[in-house]
Amino acid sequence: MDGAYWKTVGPTSRHSALDPSLGHRYIAPVSNHSLPLSASTRLCAVYGFPVRHSASPAMQNAGIATLGLDWRYTAAEVRPEQLKEAINGARAMHYIGLNLTVPHKLLAMDMVDILDESSQEWGAVNTILFEGQRDDNQWRPIHEFDCAPQNIRSHGFNTDADGITQSLREDLGIEVRGESILLLGAGGAGRVAALKLAATGVKDLSIINRTTSKAEALVAEIQQRFPAVNVSVNYPSSEIDLVINATSLGLRDKDPSPLDPQAFCLKKSRAVYDMIYQPNQTPLLTAAKEAGCKYANGLGMLLHQGAKSLEIWSGQSAPLESMREALKKAINHG
Ligand SMILES: NC(=O)c1ccc[n+]([C@@H]2O[C@H](COP(=O)([O-])OP(=O)(O)OC[C@H]3O[C@@H](n4cnc5c(N)ncnc54)[C@H](OP(=O)(O)O)[C@@H]3O)[C@@H](O)[C@H]2O)c1
Repeated sequence: MDGAYWKTVGPTSRHSALDPSLGHRYIAPVSNHSLPLSASTRLCAVYGFPVRHSASPAMQNAGIATLGLDWRYTAAEVRPEQLKEAINGARAMHYIGLNLTVPHKLLAMDMVDILDESSQEWGAVNTILFEGQRDDNQWRPIHEFDCAPQNIRSHGFNTDADGITQSLREDLGIEVRGESILLLGAGGAGRVAALKLAATGVKDLSIINRTTSKAEALVAEIQQRFPAVNVSVNYPSSEIDLVINATSLGLRDKDPSPLDPQAFCLKKSRAVYDMIYQPNQTPLLTAAKEAGCKYANGLGMLLHQGAKSLEIWSGQSAPLESMREALKKAINHG
Protein backbone atom coordinates (compact mmCIF):
# COMPACT_ATOMS: atom_id res chain seq x y z
CA MET A 1 0.00 0.00 0.00
CA ASP A 2 1.10 3.53 -0.65
CA GLY A 3 1.07 4.93 2.87
CA ALA A 4 1.73 8.51 1.78
CA TYR A 5 -1.33 8.45 -0.42
CA TRP A 6 -3.85 7.60 2.23
CA LYS A 7 -2.35 9.97 4.74
CA THR A 8 -2.82 12.89 2.38
CA VAL A 9 -6.27 12.13 0.98
CA GLY A 10 -7.87 12.08 4.44
CA PRO A 11 -11.54 11.32 4.88
CA THR A 12 -13.08 9.65 1.84
CA SER A 13 -16.47 8.90 3.28
CA ARG A 14 -18.92 11.44 4.71
CA HIS A 15 -22.12 9.90 5.78
CA SER A 16 -24.01 10.27 9.01
CA ALA A 17 -26.11 7.64 10.67
CA LEU A 18 -28.75 8.49 13.19
CA ASP A 19 -30.07 5.41 14.89
CA PRO A 20 -33.86 5.77 14.60
CA SER A 21 -34.52 3.72 17.72
CA LEU A 22 -32.21 5.83 19.87
CA GLY A 23 -33.23 9.12 18.27
CA HIS A 24 -30.63 11.56 19.47
CA ARG A 25 -27.51 9.41 19.35
CA TYR A 26 -25.10 10.19 16.60
CA ILE A 27 -22.80 7.64 15.03
CA ALA A 28 -19.83 9.53 13.66
CA PRO A 29 -18.90 9.09 10.01
CA VAL A 30 -16.16 6.69 8.95
CA SER A 31 -13.05 8.64 8.03
CA ASN A 32 -9.37 8.34 7.22
CA HIS A 33 -9.72 5.34 4.96
CA SER A 34 -6.81 3.94 3.06
CA LEU A 35 -6.89 3.11 -0.63
CA PRO A 36 -9.53 4.49 -2.96
CA LEU A 37 -12.28 2.08 -3.93
CA SER A 38 -11.36 0.17 -7.06
CA ALA A 39 -12.30 -3.00 -8.91
CA SER A 40 -9.93 -4.95 -6.72
CA THR A 41 -11.33 -3.71 -3.39
CA ARG A 42 -12.75 -6.60 -1.36
CA LEU A 43 -15.67 -6.32 1.01
CA CYS A 44 -16.69 -7.42 4.50
CA ALA A 45 -19.90 -6.44 6.29
CA VAL A 46 -21.95 -6.64 9.43
CA TYR A 47 -25.52 -7.91 9.09
CA GLY A 48 -28.08 -6.93 11.70
CA PHE A 49 -31.69 -5.83 12.08
CA PRO A 50 -31.51 -2.99 12.94
CA VAL A 51 -27.90 -2.16 12.19
CA ARG A 52 -27.63 1.59 11.66
CA HIS A 53 -26.45 2.13 15.23
CA SER A 54 -23.44 -0.14 14.68
CA ALA A 55 -19.97 1.25 15.40
CA SER A 56 -18.35 -1.80 13.78
CA PRO A 57 -17.80 -0.17 10.34
CA ALA A 58 -15.82 2.68 11.93
CA MET A 59 -13.77 0.30 14.05
CA GLN A 60 -13.12 -2.29 11.35
CA ASN A 61 -12.32 0.21 8.61
CA ALA A 62 -9.73 1.80 10.91
CA GLY A 63 -8.19 -1.62 11.51
CA ILE A 64 -8.27 -2.48 7.81
CA ALA A 65 -6.63 0.86 6.91
CA THR A 66 -3.89 0.39 9.51
CA LEU A 67 -3.14 -3.08 8.17
CA GLY A 68 -2.93 -1.59 4.66
CA LEU A 69 -5.57 -3.91 3.22
CA ASP A 70 -7.56 -2.96 0.14
CA TRP A 71 -10.80 -3.95 1.86
CA ARG A 72 -13.89 -2.09 3.01
CA TYR A 73 -16.28 -2.98 5.79
CA THR A 74 -19.88 -1.97 5.45
CA ALA A 75 -23.21 -2.65 7.19
CA ALA A 76 -26.39 -4.15 5.80
CA GLU A 77 -29.83 -4.23 7.37
CA VAL A 78 -30.84 -7.83 6.77
CA ARG A 79 -34.18 -9.21 7.88
CA PRO A 80 -33.91 -12.55 9.69
CA GLU A 81 -36.00 -14.29 7.03
CA GLN A 82 -33.45 -13.18 4.41
CA LEU A 83 -30.31 -14.01 6.37
CA LYS A 84 -29.54 -17.22 4.50
CA GLU A 85 -29.94 -15.48 1.15
CA ALA A 86 -27.71 -12.61 2.32
CA ILE A 87 -24.94 -14.96 3.52
CA ASN A 88 -25.07 -16.84 0.22
CA GLY A 89 -25.02 -13.53 -1.67
CA ALA A 90 -21.85 -12.44 0.13
CA ARG A 91 -20.28 -15.81 -0.63
CA ALA A 92 -21.19 -15.50 -4.33
CA MET A 93 -19.64 -12.01 -4.43
CA HIS A 94 -16.44 -13.27 -2.80
CA TYR A 95 -16.71 -11.24 0.36
CA ILE A 96 -13.84 -11.69 2.80
CA GLY A 97 -16.19 -12.33 5.70
CA LEU A 98 -19.14 -11.16 7.75
CA ASN A 99 -20.06 -10.18 11.27
CA LEU A 100 -23.53 -10.98 12.52
CA THR A 101 -25.34 -9.09 15.23
CA VAL A 102 -28.81 -9.15 16.78
CA PRO A 103 -30.95 -11.10 15.84
CA HIS A 104 -28.81 -13.31 13.59
CA LYS A 105 -26.25 -15.01 15.83
CA LEU A 106 -28.31 -18.07 16.72
CA LEU A 107 -30.04 -18.37 13.34
CA ALA A 108 -26.69 -18.56 11.55
CA MET A 109 -25.76 -21.77 13.38
CA ASP A 110 -27.84 -23.64 10.78
CA MET A 111 -26.79 -21.52 7.83
CA VAL A 112 -23.01 -21.84 7.62
CA ASP A 113 -21.17 -24.73 5.99
CA ILE A 114 -18.92 -25.49 8.93
CA LEU A 115 -18.82 -24.42 12.56
CA ASP A 116 -15.58 -23.66 14.34
CA GLU A 117 -15.13 -25.00 17.89
CA SER A 118 -15.87 -21.51 19.30
CA SER A 119 -19.32 -21.25 17.70
CA GLN A 120 -20.16 -24.82 18.72
CA GLU A 121 -19.10 -24.14 22.29
CA TRP A 122 -21.11 -20.93 22.73
CA GLY A 123 -23.99 -21.88 20.43
CA ALA A 124 -23.84 -18.71 18.32
CA VAL A 125 -22.05 -17.36 15.24
CA ASN A 126 -20.92 -13.72 15.15
CA THR A 127 -18.15 -14.06 12.55
CA ILE A 128 -18.10 -15.78 9.17
CA LEU A 129 -14.91 -16.37 7.21
CA PHE A 130 -15.31 -17.28 3.53
CA GLU A 131 -12.80 -19.89 2.43
CA GLY A 132 -11.92 -21.12 -1.05
CA GLN A 133 -10.79 -24.59 -2.03
CA ARG A 134 -7.33 -24.83 -3.60
CA ASP A 135 -6.30 -27.32 -6.28
CA ASP A 136 -4.75 -29.49 -3.54
CA ASN A 137 -8.24 -29.50 -1.88
CA GLN A 138 -7.12 -27.36 1.08
CA TRP A 139 -9.51 -24.64 2.25
CA ARG A 140 -7.87 -21.22 2.65
CA PRO A 141 -9.19 -17.69 3.50
CA ILE A 142 -10.58 -16.18 0.35
CA HIS A 143 -8.28 -13.14 0.36
CA GLU A 144 -5.41 -15.51 -0.49
CA PHE A 145 -6.90 -16.17 -3.97
CA ASP A 146 -6.15 -13.90 -6.92
CA CYS A 147 -9.05 -15.33 -8.91
CA ALA A 148 -12.40 -16.28 -7.46
CA PRO A 149 -12.22 -19.98 -6.55
CA GLN A 150 -14.93 -22.31 -7.79
CA ASN A 151 -15.75 -23.75 -4.38
CA ILE A 152 -16.31 -21.40 -1.51
CA ARG A 153 -17.55 -22.31 1.96
CA SER A 154 -18.72 -20.28 4.96
CA HIS A 155 -16.93 -20.98 8.22
CA GLY A 156 -18.69 -19.80 11.40
CA PHE A 157 -16.86 -18.54 14.50
CA ASN A 158 -17.75 -16.84 17.76
CA THR A 159 -15.50 -14.08 19.07
CA ASP A 160 -17.93 -12.60 21.65
CA ALA A 161 -16.93 -14.90 24.50
CA ASP A 162 -13.21 -14.08 24.28
CA GLY A 163 -14.09 -10.38 23.99
CA ILE A 164 -15.77 -10.48 27.41
CA THR A 165 -12.92 -12.08 29.36
CA GLN A 166 -10.28 -10.01 27.60
CA SER A 167 -12.10 -6.79 28.45
CA LEU A 168 -12.62 -7.84 32.10
CA ARG A 169 -8.89 -8.51 32.39
CA GLU A 170 -7.78 -5.35 30.61
CA ASP A 171 -10.35 -2.89 31.98
CA LEU A 172 -10.88 -4.20 35.52
CA GLY A 173 -7.98 -6.55 36.25
CA ILE A 174 -10.51 -9.37 36.77
CA GLU A 175 -9.21 -12.83 35.86
CA VAL A 176 -12.53 -14.70 36.52
CA ARG A 177 -10.84 -17.95 37.68
CA GLY A 178 -11.71 -18.55 41.34
CA GLU A 179 -13.81 -15.38 41.58
CA SER A 180 -17.43 -14.71 42.60
CA ILE A 181 -19.65 -12.96 40.06
CA LEU A 182 -23.24 -11.73 39.88
CA LEU A 183 -24.53 -11.72 36.29
CA LEU A 184 -27.65 -9.71 35.45
CA GLY A 185 -29.33 -10.93 32.27
CA ALA A 186 -29.73 -14.28 30.54
CA GLY A 187 -30.41 -13.14 26.96
CA GLY A 188 -27.99 -13.79 24.09
CA ALA A 189 -25.04 -11.86 25.57
CA GLY A 190 -25.79 -13.04 29.12
CA ARG A 191 -25.83 -16.66 28.04
CA VAL A 192 -22.46 -16.46 26.25
CA ALA A 193 -20.98 -14.55 29.22
CA ALA A 194 -22.25 -17.12 31.74
CA LEU A 195 -20.86 -20.05 29.76
CA LYS A 196 -17.52 -18.32 29.17
CA LEU A 197 -17.21 -17.40 32.87
CA ALA A 198 -17.97 -21.02 33.79
CA ALA A 199 -15.47 -22.35 31.25
CA THR A 200 -12.83 -19.93 32.60
CA GLY A 201 -13.24 -21.28 36.15
CA VAL A 202 -15.47 -18.79 37.97
CA LYS A 203 -16.01 -20.06 41.54
CA ASP A 204 -19.50 -18.73 42.37
CA LEU A 205 -21.92 -17.48 39.75
CA SER A 206 -25.33 -15.93 40.48
CA ILE A 207 -27.57 -15.34 37.48
CA ILE A 208 -30.58 -13.03 37.76
CA ASN A 209 -32.98 -12.44 34.89
CA ARG A 210 -36.37 -10.76 34.56
CA THR A 211 -37.73 -13.98 33.06
CA THR A 212 -36.62 -16.37 35.77
CA SER A 213 -37.16 -19.50 33.67
CA LYS A 214 -34.38 -18.37 31.29
CA ALA A 215 -31.95 -17.95 34.18
CA GLU A 216 -32.98 -21.37 35.53
CA ALA A 217 -32.38 -23.03 32.15
CA LEU A 218 -28.93 -21.43 31.97
CA VAL A 219 -28.09 -22.53 35.51
CA ALA A 220 -29.12 -26.10 34.62
CA GLU A 221 -26.91 -26.02 31.51
CA ILE A 222 -23.92 -24.79 33.52
CA GLN A 223 -24.48 -27.40 36.23
CA GLN A 224 -24.40 -30.06 33.58
CA ARG A 225 -21.44 -28.77 31.55
CA PHE A 226 -19.35 -27.24 34.35
CA PRO A 227 -20.14 -29.14 37.57
CA ALA A 228 -17.30 -27.47 39.51
CA VAL A 229 -19.03 -24.07 39.33
CA ASN A 230 -21.30 -23.10 42.22
CA VAL A 231 -24.14 -21.55 40.21
CA SER A 232 -27.60 -20.35 41.31
CA VAL A 233 -30.46 -17.97 40.53
CA ASN A 234 -30.17 -16.24 43.93
CA TYR A 235 -28.49 -12.94 44.76
CA PRO A 236 -25.16 -13.48 46.56
CA SER A 237 -25.32 -13.11 50.32
CA SER A 238 -21.63 -12.34 50.87
CA GLU A 239 -19.02 -10.08 49.26
CA ILE A 240 -18.22 -10.71 45.59
CA ASP A 241 -15.65 -9.66 43.00
CA LEU A 242 -17.84 -8.45 40.17
CA VAL A 243 -21.34 -7.50 38.97
CA ILE A 244 -21.93 -7.73 35.21
CA ASN A 245 -24.90 -6.16 33.46
CA ALA A 246 -25.92 -8.15 30.39
CA THR A 247 -29.46 -6.79 30.25
CA SER A 248 -30.50 -4.01 27.91
CA LEU A 249 -31.50 -1.80 30.87
CA GLY A 250 -29.41 1.35 30.59
CA LEU A 251 -29.53 1.68 26.81
CA ARG A 252 -32.26 4.28 27.01
CA ASP A 253 -32.16 7.55 28.93
CA LYS A 254 -34.97 6.81 31.37
CA ASP A 255 -34.04 3.20 32.08
CA PRO A 256 -33.69 2.27 35.75
CA SER A 257 -30.66 0.37 37.04
CA PRO A 258 -30.87 -3.37 36.31
CA LEU A 259 -29.84 -4.05 39.90
CA ASP A 260 -32.39 -4.00 42.71
CA PRO A 261 -30.54 -2.24 45.58
CA GLN A 262 -32.79 -3.96 48.13
CA ALA A 263 -31.62 -7.33 46.86
CA PHE A 264 -27.92 -6.55 46.57
CA CYS A 265 -25.84 -3.59 47.77
CA LEU A 266 -23.10 -2.59 45.34
CA LYS A 267 -20.76 -1.84 48.26
CA LYS A 268 -20.44 -5.63 48.52
CA SER A 269 -18.82 -5.85 45.07
CA ARG A 270 -15.22 -5.01 44.16
CA ALA A 271 -16.06 -4.09 40.55
CA VAL A 272 -18.91 -3.52 38.11
CA TYR A 273 -18.97 -4.13 34.36
CA ASP A 274 -21.78 -2.90 32.12
CA MET A 275 -21.87 -4.49 28.67
CA ILE A 276 -23.62 -1.35 27.42
CA TYR A 277 -21.15 1.09 25.86
CA GLN A 278 -23.58 3.71 24.59
CA PRO A 279 -24.32 5.70 26.66
CA ASN A 280 -20.89 5.31 28.22
CA GLN A 281 -22.22 6.05 31.72
CA THR A 282 -25.31 4.04 32.69
CA PRO A 283 -27.31 4.28 35.96
CA LEU A 284 -25.55 1.11 37.11
CA LEU A 285 -22.10 2.60 36.48
CA THR A 286 -23.10 5.80 38.27
CA ALA A 287 -24.17 3.71 41.27
CA ALA A 288 -20.89 1.76 41.03
CA LYS A 289 -18.92 5.00 41.16
CA GLU A 290 -20.89 6.17 44.21
CA ALA A 291 -20.32 2.82 45.93
CA GLY A 292 -16.56 3.11 45.35
CA CYS A 293 -16.35 0.12 42.95
CA LYS A 294 -13.95 -0.14 40.05
CA TYR A 295 -16.08 0.00 36.91
CA ALA A 296 -16.03 -0.19 33.11
CA ASN A 297 -18.49 -0.11 30.24
CA GLY A 298 -18.71 -2.58 27.33
CA LEU A 299 -16.45 -0.73 24.89
CA GLY A 300 -13.56 -3.14 25.47
CA MET A 301 -15.80 -6.13 24.82
CA LEU A 302 -16.89 -4.66 21.50
CA LEU A 303 -13.28 -3.84 20.62
CA HIS A 304 -11.90 -7.29 21.40
CA GLN A 305 -14.63 -9.27 19.64
CA GLY A 306 -14.11 -7.08 16.56
CA ALA A 307 -10.33 -7.35 16.71
CA LYS A 308 -10.59 -11.13 16.86
CA SER A 309 -12.87 -11.12 13.78
CA LEU A 310 -10.33 -9.06 11.84
CA GLU A 311 -7.61 -11.51 12.87
CA ILE A 312 -9.70 -14.44 11.63
CA TRP A 313 -10.24 -12.76 8.25
CA SER A 314 -6.74 -11.39 7.72
CA GLY A 315 -4.49 -13.84 9.58
CA GLN A 316 -2.72 -10.80 11.09
CA SER A 317 -2.71 -9.28 14.58
CA ALA A 318 -5.37 -6.60 14.83
CA PRO A 319 -4.18 -3.01 15.37
CA LEU A 320 -6.00 -2.54 18.67
CA GLU A 321 -5.12 1.09 19.30
CA SER A 322 -6.34 2.46 15.99
CA MET A 323 -9.50 0.36 16.28
CA ARG A 324 -10.10 1.59 19.84
CA GLU A 325 -9.63 5.23 18.83
CA ALA A 326 -12.00 4.88 15.86
CA LEU A 327 -14.56 3.21 18.07
CA LYS A 328 -14.40 5.95 20.70
CA LYS A 329 -14.70 8.62 18.04
CA ALA A 330 -17.61 6.85 16.34
CA ILE A 331 -19.64 6.67 19.50
CA ASN A 332 -18.56 10.05 20.83
CA HIS A 333 -16.59 8.81 23.80
CA GLY A 334 -14.09 11.55 23.02
N1 LIG B 1 -20.32 -4.52 24.53
C1 LIG B 1 -20.63 -5.40 23.60
O1 LIG B 1 -19.84 -5.73 22.73
C2 LIG B 1 -21.98 -6.04 23.66
C3 LIG B 1 -22.24 -7.20 22.90
C4 LIG B 1 -23.51 -7.80 22.98
C5 LIG B 1 -24.50 -7.23 23.76
N2 LIG B 1 -24.22 -6.10 24.46
C6 LIG B 1 -25.26 -5.47 25.31
O2 LIG B 1 -25.78 -6.47 26.18
C7 LIG B 1 -27.17 -6.24 26.40
C8 LIG B 1 -27.95 -7.50 26.12
O3 LIG B 1 -27.83 -7.83 24.74
P1 LIG B 1 -28.40 -9.23 24.20
O4 LIG B 1 -27.86 -9.41 22.85
O5 LIG B 1 -28.23 -10.29 25.21
O6 LIG B 1 -29.97 -8.91 24.11
P2 LIG B 1 -31.18 -9.92 24.35
O7 LIG B 1 -30.83 -11.29 23.92
O8 LIG B 1 -32.36 -9.24 23.76
O9 LIG B 1 -31.36 -9.95 25.97
C9 LIG B 1 -31.84 -8.83 26.65
C10 LIG B 1 -31.69 -9.05 28.15
O10 LIG B 1 -32.14 -7.89 28.84
C11 LIG B 1 -33.23 -8.22 29.71
N3 LIG B 1 -34.20 -7.13 29.72
C12 LIG B 1 -34.69 -6.46 28.65
N4 LIG B 1 -35.54 -5.51 29.05
C13 LIG B 1 -35.61 -5.59 30.41
C14 LIG B 1 -36.34 -4.88 31.41
N5 LIG B 1 -37.17 -3.90 31.10
N6 LIG B 1 -36.13 -5.21 32.71
C15 LIG B 1 -35.28 -6.20 33.04
N7 LIG B 1 -34.56 -6.93 32.13
C16 LIG B 1 -34.74 -6.62 30.83
C17 LIG B 1 -33.81 -9.48 29.10
O11 LIG B 1 -34.58 -10.17 30.07
P3 LIG B 1 -35.71 -11.21 29.59
O12 LIG B 1 -34.99 -12.49 29.29
O13 LIG B 1 -36.61 -11.31 30.75
O14 LIG B 1 -36.37 -10.63 28.38
C18 LIG B 1 -32.54 -10.21 28.70
O15 LIG B 1 -31.88 -10.75 29.81
C19 LIG B 1 -27.57 -5.08 25.51
O16 LIG B 1 -27.56 -3.91 26.28
C20 LIG B 1 -26.45 -5.00 24.49
O17 LIG B 1 -26.25 -3.67 24.05
C21 LIG B 1 -22.99 -5.50 24.43
